Amino acid sequence: MHSPGQASENGETRGELPKQVNGPESCRNGVGGHLGEEVESFLSDAGSLDSFDDLTKVNPVTTATVLKCLQARYTADVFYTNAGCSLVAVNPFQPMPSLYSHELMRDYHAAPHPQELKPHIFAVAEETYRNVKSQIPPVNQSIIVSGESGAGKTWTSRCLMKFYATVASSSSAPEGSVEVERIEKRVLDSNPVMEAFGNACTLRNNNSSRFGKYIQLQLSRSQHLTSASIQTFLLEKTRVAYQPPQERNFHIFYQVCTRI
Ligand SMILES: Nc1ncnc2c1ncn2[C@@H]1O[C@H](COP(=O)(O)OP(=O)(O)OP(=O)(O)O)[C@@H](O)[C@H]1O
Ligand SMILES: [Mg+2]
Repeated sequence: MHSPGQASENGETRGELPKQVNGPESCRNGVGGHLGEEVESFLSDAGSLDSFDDLTKVNPVTTATVLKCLQARYTADVFYTNAGCSLVAVNPFQPMPSLYSHELMRDYHAAPHPQELKPHIFAVAEETYRNVKSQIPPVNQSIIVSGESGAGKTWTSRCLMKFYATVASSSSAPEGSVEVERIEKRVLDSNPVMEAFGNACTLRNNNSSRFGKYIQLQLSRSQHLTSASIQTFLLEKTRVAYQPPQERNFHIFYQVCTRI
């Protein structure tokens, strides 16, 4: 995932392309020689850059062409782009309720081929959900959410959990539905508690996770959630005693001191 909306270490700001520091000059900028001409010709069709919903279709593939496409899509309020079997999510840095509505979840859940709809985190979620269902014996599915601080990993994980909670409870089988709802509620309600103890305000993100998470959701044969577990890794314990200038301690310390 990439977040063009935040200032980064080398001073880039929203809308500007990051500088690439590796590789020869011609590769860095995509200029010079035959490749340079191809890049220029590709970029000259500025109007069509936002139409690339899969970065593997970009030709030639260079840092400049890929980032220009993502930038054009971002400008057109399109925040998800496929890159082969991966999904690139760009942080919109603004509320996008229509992008995460229950109706849209149902659209992706009901679609015969969700991957043929627009790139979206719900397409990834639905694909994994179907993979579990269709394999005999069922095969575990994993989703890796990665990116720099502030890219939207925690947000994306929440979207995934909400999606699974919604589609698992929309199952027609009534038996055990109370239990399913209880587990869903616990999974979703655990987020604020985990974040109170493990998240802090940093210069890059007001709600930065200072630990890694491995979340497991177990489904029954009938695709109901039967249990969930969360393992945490590498909590930044030193933050309790020391916070870098203009950063804060874990949220919980401020929350317990707040009078309501
Ligand atoms: N898809 C999105 N739609 C709207 N806002 C978003 C989205 N993704 C991220 N954000 C905003 O960006 C902020 C930072 O995102 P998030 O906390 O998920 O980053 P992160 O990758 O988990 O960072 P860190 O590694 O520091 O924990 C969120 O608090 C939210 O305001
Ligand atoms: Mg986070």
